[in-house]
Amino acid sequence: MYPLRRNRRLRANAAIRSLVRENHMSANDFLVPLFVVEGSGRKEEIPSMPNYYRYSLDLLKEEVKSLWAMGLKSVLVFVKVPDNLKDNAGTEALNDDGLMQRAVKTIKDVCPDMLVMTDVALDPYSNYGHDGIVEHGKIINDDTAELLAEMSVSHAEAGADFVAPSDMMDGRIGIIREALEDEGFTDTGIMSYSAKYASGFYGPFRDALDSAPVDAQDIPKDKKTYQMDFANSIEALRETEMDIDEGADIVMVKPGMPYLDIVRAVKQEFDVPVAVYQVSGEYAMLKAAAAQGWLDHDQVMLESLMAFKRAGADIIASYFAKDVVSLLK
Ligand code: PBG
Repeated sequence: MYPLRRNRRLRANAAIRSLVRENHMSANDFLVPLFVVEGSGRKEEIPSMPNYYRYSLDLLKEEVKSLWAMGLKSVLVFVKVPDNLKDNAGTEALNDDGLMQRAVKTIKDVCPDMLVMTDVALDPYSNYGHDGIVEHGKIINDDTAELLAEMSVSHAEAGADFVAPSDMMDGRIGIIREALEDEGFTDTGIMSYSAKYASGFYGPFRDALDSAPVDAQDIPKDKKTYQMDFANSIEALRETEMDIDEGADIVMVKPGMPYLDIVRAVKQEFDVPVAVYQVSGEYAMLKAAAAQGWLDHDQVMLESLMAFKRAGADIIASYFAKDVVSLLK
């Protein structure tokens, strides 16, 4: 007891602090989200995500090479689909020559060892902005899951290492796993968005992909019938357990910072790698406050990311991946 024990001895200088530090961060922890658009020579800043861009395939090559050079070895790919290709049947999602499929091939071409994960959900392809097929004001579960399985096979054929279903349909992990097995993609992994909440923090992402639910009659205005209620935590364990039983290799909690309790609970309960997604709204919030001079950018970036490590996350998907790796160098 005090005065024999003085906890401040272990904080007295940088050397001792680094010696007793419990958690560490490096490029190995990060999964880099990438936004891809059609066209060439395009590098478009997303207005609600300062310093984050959508790339056309030619410029994506340079971006991927620079990530690799920084030690960032895993990417999570999202595509912005032209309006005229959107429908309520996911037609374009199954196009073997679609933007996602070409993006995967492009990345593997310039950087064969880059781990490529693809987003699997209908929202970027949906004229209604929903993650599944909409009928009579409802998001149809089973037909959507079948479609997502076909989509996953198409991504695997293009060369994806992992598919990442972000849709929250029931049973889709098992259906996807079986489809991959049937088609011989036994080595293609599944990172499941297992505990994904219906969150206001996805706003900037929906701007980036122009994928927000549309405001029309008989179209649900939010995703609350499939994404989770933010008041719940036990339900997150039930969702995660089902996904693991169905064949998920990695599970994910999303969003990140407001859901650290869920990250911790999932990590404690299960023995598969746990990913967390620091989503677009979390990024936007910190960037905006830093731009105002109200918060110190680097300090809050590091702090927010280390919180995920402390909570027990094994993998962090973050729009800060490049910034933080540069800072750590
Ligand atoms: C779509 C998807 C979303 C995000 C990842 N995949 C948005 C949503 O569910 O509406 C959000 C990511 C972010 O906000 O950074 N299935």
